[in-house]
Amino acid sequence: MRVLSGMRPTGKLHFGHYHGVLSNWLKLQDEYECFFFVADWHALTTDYAEPGRIKDNTVEMVIDWLSVGIDPAKATIFRQSHVKEHAELFVLLSMITPLSWLERNPTYKEQLQEIKDKDLHNYGFLGYPVLQTADIIIYKAEKVPVGIDQAPHLEFSREIARRFNHFYGEVFPEPQTILTSQPKVLGTDGRKMSKSYNNAIFLSDTPEAVEQKILHMMTDTARKRRTDAGNPDVCPLFITFHLLYSDEKTIGWVREGCTGALIGCTECKKSVIPKVLAMLEPIQKKRKAYEKDPDRVTAIIEEGSAKAKEIAGVTMEGVRKAIGLEAPERSAVNR
Ligand code: TRP
Ligand code: SF4
Repeated sequence: MRVLSGMRPTGKLHFGHYHGVLSNWLKLQDEYECFFFVADWHALTTDYAEPGRIKDNTVEMVIDWLSVGIDPAKATIFRQSHVKEHAELFVLLSMITPLSWLERNPTYKEQLQEIKDKDLHNYGFLGYPVLQTADIIIYKAEKVPVGIDQAPHLEFSREIARRFNHFYGEVFPEPQTILTSQPKVLGTDGRKMSKSYNNAIFLSDTPEAVEQKILHMMTDTARKRRTDAGNPDVCPLFITFHLLYSDEKTIGWVREGCTGALIGCTECKKSVIPKVLAMLEPIQKKRKAYEKDPDRVTAIIEEGSAKAKEIAGVTMEGVRKAIGLEAPERSAVNR
């Protein structure tokens, strides 16, 4: 079974990405034929005016993938813009995409509302899910692991695949969503961890920076003094770090200590920091090796892109044939 997923190149990844996406990819790569790619064209749909960071972000992000253990020997790692077949399929799919389907896309409407610092009234941004559909079905991927926010896009992809098959014959399987369980990962200010909120702890932060960020992380805001009882279930530090990194015994100790005002928040934080740093250590060791050898990273991306291109090329031959766009046979040309 073929699994495919992509990420826009936003740069360095943080703990939210790790627990929400990468840990799932790590499991999947051992079980299925996986394709993981950098959606750099998708990044351009919003960042077309300042494309400068996209290239560096691509390498940064793939270094994070490799450092956590995404393995090019198991999974095909590639860059969307280096497999131009995606663009050809995107054009063809755009012919059969009703505008109304795009205009009612909840992600589209939300982002138009929310993102005010960029003009998103461009054709590419409206067509975002069409390109995403091309990304998926060009590999005839059956499973697509994504977070809940992407579910409407996947629904759209199934509808387009169905519509294509209806017009031109059974070419594409309808891709199924694997909804990845996304544990709550909160940032230092207690909101959802996100680069744009400036509250993220990155996989590439130095151990000192990680320690400082955790020490300054928001806790149960109602607990003002050491003598006040606290509630771990509303404490961002507890939810994000103890629940994901501490053993049962420590969690019990925190619950008792916090609700009984027996421990201080600093003490509580200090008990989890070593576990977080221990998880990061092997990741950062691998990161250093890749940082020293950027050519190797580029080679991994290019080898993966070549492999992806072969598969995409075979699909596109079938697609052209189904629509009647295939190259003429030699004999027909000579006649
Ligand atoms: N839209 C996805 C995101 O923002 C990225 C993406 C692009 C994607 N193409 C894809 C994800 C294909 C899964 C499959 O996260
Ligand atoms: Fe949070 Fe721990 Fe402080 Fe309780 S003691 S509020 S769980 S940091």
